[in-house]
Amino acid sequence: MKDLQIRMPFIEGTIPNKLETMMGVKNLYHKDFMIGDPKPANFIKKATGEVAPIDFGLVFLKGNIRDIHMEVKREIVKDYIKGGHSFIPQEIKKEYTTAIFSLYPASAQIT
Ligand SMILES: Nc1ncnc2c1ncn2[C@@H]1O[C@H](COP(=O)(O)OP(=O)(O)O)[C@@H](O)[C@H]1O
Ligand SMILES: [Mg+2]
Repeated sequence: MKDLQIRMPFIEGTIPNKLETMMGVKNLYHKDFMIGDPKPANFIKKATGEVAPIDFGLVFLKGNIRDIHMEVKREIVKDYIKGGHSFIPQEIKKEYTTAIFSLYPASAQIT
């Protein structure tokens, strides 16, 4: 049987700080990806200074929210309200928040 696993290489580096994590979120966003659980532990800072995502579990294409399961969408919105929002840089915060809340239209009620 075919090996259907996806593997990524081990990346040397350190856990980024808050500002560096925000940089990682912004880089992803400018490549049209969003991360449902933005936090330092889901990124790694390489010796070059580059901040790379390492946990793709809740990474999705901006324009492709249709395929995300309703329960997952709900978790993403809940995490965002709980603290994920603090890792979104100011310059993309408004559109990021709008996109996250559009995942779960009833999100105004979950806070
Ligand atoms: N490809 C990788 N290279 C280096 N470290 C990694 C890699 N993948 C995971 N890690 C380490 O493992 C930790 C947890 O990984 P993650 O993929 O976020 O798993 P989970 O969220 O399920 O716990 C990361 O914070 C990082 O320290
Ligand atoms: Mg993780």
